[in-house]
Amino acid sequence: MKILVTGGAGYIGSHAVEILMNSGHEVTVLDDCSTGHADSLPPTARFVQGSLLDSDLVMRALKGCEAVMHFAGKSLVGESVEKPDLYRKVNVAGTKVLLGEMNTAGIKKIVFSSSAATYGQPDSSPVSESAHCAPTNPYGETKLAIERELSTAALTQGVAAVSLRYFNVAGALETNRGWLSERHDPETHLIPNALRATSESPLRIFGRDWNTPDGTCIRDYVHIIDLIDAHVRALKFLEASTHHVFNIGSGTGYSVAQVVAAVSRVKSSPLATIDAPRRAGDPAVLVANIDKAEMILNWRPERTLDQMVEDTFKAI
Ligand SMILES: NC(=O)c1ccc[n+]([C@@H]2O[C@H](COP(=O)([O-])OP(=O)(O)OC[C@H]3O[C@@H](n4cnc5c(N)ncnc54)[C@H](O)[C@@H]3O)[C@@H](O)[C@H]2O)c1
Repeated sequence: MKILVTGGAGYIGSHAVEILMNSGHEVTVLDDCSTGHADSLPPTARFVQGSLLDSDLVMRALKGCEAVMHFAGKSLVGESVEKPDLYRKVNVAGTKVLLGEMNTAGIKKIVFSSSAATYGQPDSSPVSESAHCAPTNPYGETKLAIERELSTAALTQGVAAVSLRYFNVAGALETNRGWLSERHDPETHLIPNALRATSESPLRIFGRDWNTPDGTCIRDYVHIIDLIDAHVRALKFLEASTHHVFNIGSGTGYSVAQVVAAVSRVKSSPLATIDAPRRAGDPAVLVANIDKAEMILNWRPERTLDQMVEDTFKAI
């Protein structure tokens, strides 16, 4: 299939490009490299460099494509609080441009990177797709707004859409050009930050007095290769005039202390940590209920926390 991958130079998008091309798909990447890296792309990928907000460029990028995987966007929660307009512009208005140009080009298939941030602080965990969505930051609000745009496009344009609500993505993939990896600046994700911690710059543990077995917060992590597998299955599953939402996580939580232990095991030395107060707005536990993805997409993650940590360690 000929697929447009928006945000294909970013962490998750570049893994998707690699896996799609290795399985025989033809890929075009649209990316403005604002947080992505052109050197993550295979030399044989068709690369259109520029913004989602440029409708002429989007039209050119879509030429010949049959489906879209939409990863492009802004995704730092803290930055979204400081610059909500930027997040609305790039994420929501950018997706509207994409959907408009897809309509003009007659392209009806889209798989979108949504987020657990759409839920905010759910009342119970594991959280399922039917839970009430009440995002607690502009980033989560934009993801929910995009999901609504996709529902509208399904009704009015006959679009077949899937939104995958990722929890925490980790891990890396080895290619014949070396390891692809997470190259965010600033990095806000726990596993790469834990791997980079030193005695001079220890990992901060935000609260050890949560109502969890070891007192640290519990989160859900999914290996990036399992995540891209979910995209491939979603692409095959797409139904005309319908927008489906699936949680994509491990379905099992790991505490911050368990991540610290995994990093210490992989590095064969105890990880330097420092205790810090709880952060406002952090739920004690946030874990995905992945029954729907298991039942409908026949998807289940295969890789463990240790493999996510090991692969990230090799890649960074
Ligand atoms: N990493 C995670 O754990 C996680 C969790 C939930 C959801 N997501 C979502 O997955 C997607 C990919 O995340 P990531 O971690 O790979 O982020 P990333 O920042 O590495 O990738 C995003 C890519 O989009 C590109 N981009 C940004 N604005 C653009 C624009 N206007 N036009 C064209 N390209 C643009 C960037 O240059 C970058 O290459 C994002 O939509 C993010 O919200 C990620």
